[in-house]
Amino acid sequence: MSKPLAGVNAIVTGGSQGIGESISLDLAEQGANVILFSRGLDAAAVLVSKIEAAGGQACAYAVDVCDETQINSAVDSVLETDKKIDVLVNCAGGFSEFFPIEQVSNAEWDLVMGLNLKSAFMMSRAVIPSMKLHQFGRIINIASIAANGPNPYGRSYLPYGTAKAGLIGFTKHLAKELGPFGITVNSVSPGTTGTERVLKARDAESLKKMADQAPLKRLVTPKDTAQAVLFLASQGAGGITGININVNAGVVM
Ligand SMILES: NC(=O)c1ccc[n+]([C@@H]2O[C@H](COP(=O)([O-])OP(=O)(O)OC[C@H]3O[C@@H](n4cnc5c(N)ncnc54)[C@H](O)[C@@H]3O)[C@@H](O)[C@H]2O)c1
Repeated sequence: MSKPLAGVNAIVTGGSQGIGESISLDLAEQGANVILFSRGLDAAAVLVSKIEAAGGQACAYAVDVCDETQINSAVDSVLETDKKIDVLVNCAGGFSEFFPIEQVSNAEWDLVMGLNLKSAFMMSRAVIPSMKLHQFGRIINIASIAANGPNPYGRSYLPYGTAKAGLIGFTKHLAKELGPFGITVNSVSPGTTGTERVLKARDAESLKKMADQAPLKRLVTPKDTAQAVLFLASQGAGGITGININVNAGVVM
């Protein structure tokens, strides 16, 4: 029996570790050809092998999603090989430290905005012609609980929360523009997830406090977010566009 996403080409940015890795694995398991856009190819190659060993299909391109030239050239290569792009998951993002506003330089502001917001704009702009041609597409932006407002139980980082709030606005505006072409655009907003990056940026005590204060009494996992992405990528979600799915153990409802 063919898998639900057989024949679907899905680009996942930042898809080789953390939440992106889980999304890539779940898409591949459902039969999608997963195309990783990763800054470095080492982790991506490991994941490609893992997916292939499980009988799935994957490949990787070295792409800095803040670099328009690299994005456009990689998308051209994908189209030469795979002919169409059906799904785009804009997952690359994040930040590494918390600074009070007085210490946020313009360069830091631009870096966080570029990685979490402008990258989704440039990636979407690059793949949309193919989606329009085929009158089908699913764009899924990974936003954050921080898009809803400051974290009620932990520290918040101003440029990041602002960029992710912008990403949700971008999602809705793009959804309206692309609706007539059969392309849906939605976002998924994970709550704090214990990925390697987050474990470095937050202390264990604050993570435990966040888990204790969540209605579901836990942090969310990469898999929780991946399952929401899988749903939005599916044929069955074809009537849903311009929404944000919160995956945060009930911290923000
Ligand atoms: N972990 C959390 O608590 C959490 C919560 C809410 C939202 N998110 C969002 O989920 C997404 C994934 O987060 P994560 O915690 O898994 O992060 P992560 O750091 O584990 O993974 C991010 C991935 O993006 C890649 N990446 C970073 N900059 C890139 C660039 N310029 N070009 C290409 N790839 C780049 C990294 O190499 C990595 O593979 C991010 O958008 C993040 O903002 C994470």
